[in-house]
Amino acid sequence: KTEVIIGKLRLKNPVLVASGTFGYGDELIGTVDISKLGGIVTKSLTLKPKIGNPPPRIAETPCGMLNSIGLANIGVDKFINEKLPILKNYDTAIIVNIAAKRVEDYCEIIRRLENAEGVSAYEINISCPNVKEGGLEFGTNPSMTAKIVSETRKLTDKTLIIKLTPNVTRISEFAKICKDEGADAVSLINTIVGMAIDIRTRKPKVATVTGGLSGPAIKPIALAKVFEVFQNVDIPIIGIGGITTWEDAIEFMIAGARAIQVGTANFIDPNASLQIISGIIRYCEENKIQDVNDIVGSIILE
Ligand code: DHB
Repeated sequence: KTEVIIGKLRLKNPVLVASGTFGYGDELIGTVDISKLGGIVTKSLTLKPKIGNPPPRIAETPCGMLNSIGLANIGVDKFINEKLPILKNYDTAIIVNIAAKRVEDYCEIIRRLENAEGVSAYEINISCPNVKEGGLEFGTNPSMTAKIVSETRKLTDKTLIIKLTPNVTRISEFAKICKDEGADAVSLINTIVGMAIDIRTRKPKVATVTGGLSGPAIKPIALAKVFEVFQNVDIPIIGIGGITTWEDAIEFMIAGARAIQVGTANFIDPNASLQIISGIIRYCEENKIQDVNDIVGSIILE
């Protein structure tokens, strides 16, 4: 059995593609059999379309990727009119990621999506490192985090997932706030603030100077944060951070993640998630595990 339940959301398997790494899902239809995915987390949507930050916006580092996209996106209305009607034809969960500068904007985006058909759940981004407003100052502020969760919670019965930033001292304190204000789950981690310099030009490799670091470089950090939340807060966890192989996914599940998201690996192989799903199923068969949920939090501490 590979089914996973998070609040009211039923996933056919615990593997999701992470926000910002799979577009709105539709562009990959010819490349990936998206109906095999547990779900797709869309690129962050804002109330109005956004062109994002100036180039260069992406740099490679030895074991990760640095990006400063600045929430470039088509806006919620275009998503509802042009993307949801296509996605509805596929048997996978559509988890809409939302970003905003004001609490009221998060709320208005949810109101519009509640009137549309085909949204499975929401993931609230309170942790973008690359925008001046509505990014890290939300996700690093306990009272702002509480306010965003409590206000958005009033507007929907669908599963509400809050995406947390690792750029804080104790991520579990934020997870606790999310639980207390009624969130169904937390997803972690978002990217870590990072920087790279071209030594010939002496210029930063992304135009905004710093960007969000993702990929294998952040996996051990992400795993420690997932485990910190698992030990301290009773809320479903979606693990994210450098997951590239099925072994990585199993590590996150053993540390307490009920589901996982594959991000940077999609840029190397858009089918990475499907291989991870096959690997998880094989691991379960070989280890006589009847239900993937039995792996979750099965860590052994002597
Ligand atoms: C962006 C947003 C994020 O949440 C993140 O982790 C990295 C980049 C962005 O759009 O710039």
